[in-house]
Amino acid sequence: MGCAIIGCGKSLPALEVRNDELRALVDTNDEWITTRTGIKSRHIAVSESNADLGEAAARRALGWMCGGFAECRIDAADIDLIVCATVTPDAVVPSAAGLLRRRLGLTRAVAFDLNAACSGFVYGLTVAENMMAASAPSTAGAAGRNPVRRALVVGSERLTRLTNWSDRNTCVLFGDGAGAAVLEWDDARPGIISSYIVNEDDATNALTCAMSFDAPQPFDENGISHTAARSDDPGLARTDAELGITELVEAGRPRQTLYMSGQKVFKFAAEAMTVAVHQTLQRANLSLDDIACVVPHQANERIIKYAAKKLGKPMDFFQLSIENTGNSSAASVPMALADAYAEGRIRPGDKVVLVAFGGGFTSGAVLFEA
Ligand code: COA
Repeated sequence: MGCAIIGCGKSLPALEVRNDELRALVDTNDEWITTRTGIKSRHIAVSESNADLGEAAARRALGWMCGGFAECRIDAADIDLIVCATVTPDAVVPSAAGLLRRRLGLTRAVAFDLNAACSGFVYGLTVAENMMAASAPSTAGAAGRNPVRRALVVGSERLTRLTNWSDRNTCVLFGDGAGAAVLEWDDARPGIISSYIVNEDDATNALTCAMSFDAPQPFDENGISHTAARSDDPGLARTDAELGITELVEAGRPRQTLYMSGQKVFKFAAEAMTVAVHQTLQRANLSLDDIACVVPHQANERIIKYAAKKLGKPMDFFQLSIENTGNSSAASVPMALADAYAEGRIRPGDKVVLVAFGGGFTSGAVLFEA
């Protein structure tokens, strides 16, 4: 018995920007981007919101719209849980998952967001599966928990809103999109067999995006110091310490946009990916020979090549979708999974590993039987 993936879908913004077009913004070229990353183009959400992208991907995964993989059409009343993995929600409140709940009419579902950077979808699947297993009828103490029989897990991003478009080291790498999966607890299927999620300190702040929530407020250390909070009052300017981002500011990291030291992240990512694959296999008592394919986070084709070499597998063992998407953070793995289904790579009974790594640092993998 286990938590089966019974639907999967993706959605991309309409605007596609080719590498050469970025020359209008920074000193770059198609040859550099292609050889260093495998990226040829990325989609950029100009008019689409995070919720627009997430909704379209979810509709496909639920079998409400064509273009996805769906074993059946799921009724709105049958979804008990929505987890949305994102670092770029349209609002802090309501959550991206809450917006999807409303738009899709999933009125029975409990909904919340999850931020684990580019590993978000893998973390989201793990959390959803844990909640489903904990509330399964055969589990001791299940009656005391929220019953979760079906869940919608979404990765949805408008990462290009955090992109520094004058930094050629990073701006060529990212794109927008959304992917979604529907999970169902099924007594007759193994579904998700094992998972592994782990965090490691990003000690040198190699991948950051310092956000400040700095609406003025009338307090200082001694309590109320102003009768009225006016946004133009310099006395109310919040310090970096108050904002909790002193360390990032001292390290010279920008606010509101993504910063990345590419080589440091590359080193972490390549290692983290192979460790996560091995750990999920070990937890399931399986070997790579039992696996039909690996669906990795699409950050850089070279990272996937490095992992392929370390794992002793050819490149066609890995789903590659980066060419026309770039790195879309939490949307990357579910979009690549949707591609794998669409390309007929995943057949019933196949065992598949999803693996991701991201800022923080986060990393992890999920092994499931289709
Ligand atoms: N176009 C042209 N030249 C560029 C460029 C661009 N877009 N970006 C950087 N360069 C230049 C650099 O300025 C540097 O020039 P210099 O030697 O004159 O200083 C040169 O290319 C090499 O830069 P470097 O940073 O050493 O390249 P790299 O081989 O490490 O590749 C990345 C850069 C970002 C592609 C690579 O480090 C990477 O993929 N890292 C991991 C990223 C990742 O996975 N992030 C997401 C994690 S979730």
